[in-house]
Amino acid sequence: MTERAKAFEPIPPQSVPPDRGPEAAQPRWRRDFPIDWEADDYVSRRDLVKFMVLTSAAFVAGQAWAAWKALTGPKRQVSEPLAVATLDELSVGGAKTFHYPEGSTPRILVRTGTNEFVAYDQQCTHLQCPVVPAVEMGKLHCPCHNGWFDLATGNPIAGPPRRRLPRVVLEIEADTVYATGVEQEST
Ligand code: FES
Repeated sequence: MTERAKAFEPIPPQSVPPDRGPEAAQPRWRRDFPIDWEADDYVSRRDLVKFMVLTSAAFVAGQAWAAWKALTGPKRQVSEPLAVATLDELSVGGAKTFHYPEGSTPRILVRTGTNEFVAYDQQCTHLQCPVVPAVEMGKLHCPCHNGWFDLATGNPIAGPPRRRLPRVVLEIEADTVYATGVEQEST
């Protein structure tokens, strides 16, 4: 028989116990792996194919997830770093507005701790009224329609706004706070 013909030969039964007895009467090891020696090539190939299919599926799913994150995650716009405050300029709970990059809509910088600052676009994502910090509540408030944002993330938490506030990325170097980029929600 040629090799090609052999490849299409019917696969032998996977389990023919030497005593030809019922499966339930076989020892545990045989019930766990009921493959005869002649058929173990078939098992190896089948397992390899199964492994390759699963690995490829996991790879495709990973790539799709990464593409989805890239499309829907926040987009970061990087500009020249700009000094926006010095550490002794604001006490904890204090805030100031600035423009970054030059000519942008107003941004608001809030000092939330000794070495912790956050900064966001000051325009509410509902109808663009300026938001004001309510530091003791850990929120930003928009008085126009009673909208609220989380101070730590800029996410909307109550009222009409549905989109997060664009976040200004900050870096502290020596005694100065620098704006280094703006993260904007994808639309
Ligand atoms: S403009 Fe801010 S809640 Fe409407």
